[in-house]
Amino acid sequence: MLDRRRLLAIGAGAAVAGGTAAVVAARGTAEPVAGKTPPGHGHGGGHGLAKNARMSPVAAATPFAVRMPVPPVLAPVRRTAEADEYEISVKNADVNVLPGMTTAAITFNGQFVAPTIRARSGRPVKIRYTNRLDHGATVHVHGAHVSADNDGYPMDLIAPGASRTFTYPNSQPGATLWYHDHTHHWEAEHVYKGMHGFYLIDGPDEYGLNLPSGAYDVPILIRDAHFDDKGGLILDVERPEARSTFLANGKPQPYFPVARRKYRFRLLNASIHRIFELDLGGAEMVQIGSDGGLLPEPVKVTKLTLAPGERAEVVVDFAKHALGSKLTLSEPSGPVVRFDVEREAVDPSRVPARLRPLPPLPSPVRTREFKLAVAPSMMAYAINDLEWDPNRVDAVIKEGTSEIWRIYNADTVDSPFGGIDHNFHVHLVQFRVLDRDGKPPAPGEEGWKDTVLVRPGESVRIQATFKGSPGKYVYHCHLQEHSVAGMMGQLEITP
Ligand code: C2O
Ligand code: CU
Ligand code: CU
Repeated sequence: MLDRRRLLAIGAGAAVAGGTAAVVAARGTAEPVAGKTPPGHGHGGGHGLAKNARMSPVAAATPFAVRMPVPPVLAPVRRTAEADEYEISVKNADVNVLPGMTTAAITFNGQFVAPTIRARSGRPVKIRYTNRLDHGATVHVHGAHVSADNDGYPMDLIAPGASRTFTYPNSQPGATLWYHDHTHHWEAEHVYKGMHGFYLIDGPDEYGLNLPSGAYDVPILIRDAHFDDKGGLILDVERPEARSTFLANGKPQPYFPVARRKYRFRLLNASIHRIFELDLGGAEMVQIGSDGGLLPEPVKVTKLTLAPGERAEVVVDFAKHALGSKLTLSEPSGPVVRFDVEREAVDPSRVPARLRPLPPLPSPVRTREFKLAVAPSMMAYAINDLEWDPNRVDAVIKEGTSEIWRIYNADTVDSPFGGIDHNFHVHLVQFRVLDRDGKPPAPGEEGWKDTVLVRPGESVRIQATFKGSPGKYVYHCHLQEHSVAGMMGQLEITP
């Protein structure tokens, strides 16, 4: 069996062939591996993010030493009859993540967790992005139903110094979406360094339900990170497990004071690799939403699996816990955020037994197969044995039709590299999970999804209806270390 280190090096090598400076830097410090030398080996330099990857005294933060912030909601620069208009700069910034240390980050508006955009169903938003980096970049709103030229196509970059306005119609129900970089070959590094934030849509489907709102509706961006002893971020593609510091809204394992009442938490896994297996120390969480918004009905859970890019909305009722209790949202390798029950509060909110009905599925016109696996060359990651090629369209889809896609993870435990997890994200649509290895999806996967985890050897069937204007959109593994290394394809909507 080839070892994991070699596989990750392969991912890095493949990305190097396409020019990722991020992984170039890591590649330059990697040890030679047995067998074929991945392309680009030895070309160090570039962006320099990972240049310290081998000298790793790591800054360790004490858990629960800092309070979890809530990312501020961005105010529009203008409200017109047509849209709410925002301005966002993509720029380098020194931010504070670990207490007393400065972290060089790549940000939206200088904030390590970007400002939150709060949109409303049916009311368009226009965002003018200005790229203040020294290289091209683009921005994608993950989960949004948008036209192709506003989607942040990975090859269509905003040049350094230039601005571009994207229009988001928000013609979809309420949902917890997020925005992040989508620059091909750079998305893993850019997102890792801070280009991530919430884009929330409030929908009429939620009005009147009386779910916890206002200060009791809290988005929490969860991710992992690996720091050097000065607080700098290390991106070592060969050791994702070294990203052992968990951040909640950009702070290391913080605490968050809560009142004895219900809260709605919108959890997002913005990591580029790690799958979080979350629990609240056995306490109940009521899942009310997934990627595309509210579930048909609430689901009581004590554990939640959240793969990169996925969202889960949960209601936690702290009235079930005494004043002074501390409940920790953790994953097996450590705590993420601790909720400290500190005060009483009135609670007019509720979680109704029915949240949002799911419309019946239209009849599909066809089925397609997508195999996720290391490429036959063993130098990259691939979908149906093909690496990303912007000049190739992998699926031509007639506008308005519904299709079933079967996604199969062929990186099984007995494959040359051992089992590798993948997940699958499609732009433009929210889909439904039909089954997982022939069995009905878990209740938390019954609603609208845009990203789905596919474990080694698993096969997941989804159904999507491709309404929208003609154009090209990507789909890819949202372990972004895999998408930078080839695991991305594209669909084209035709009239
Ligand atoms: Cu979250 Cu193609 O992206
Ligand atoms: Cu997306
Ligand atoms: Cu993958």
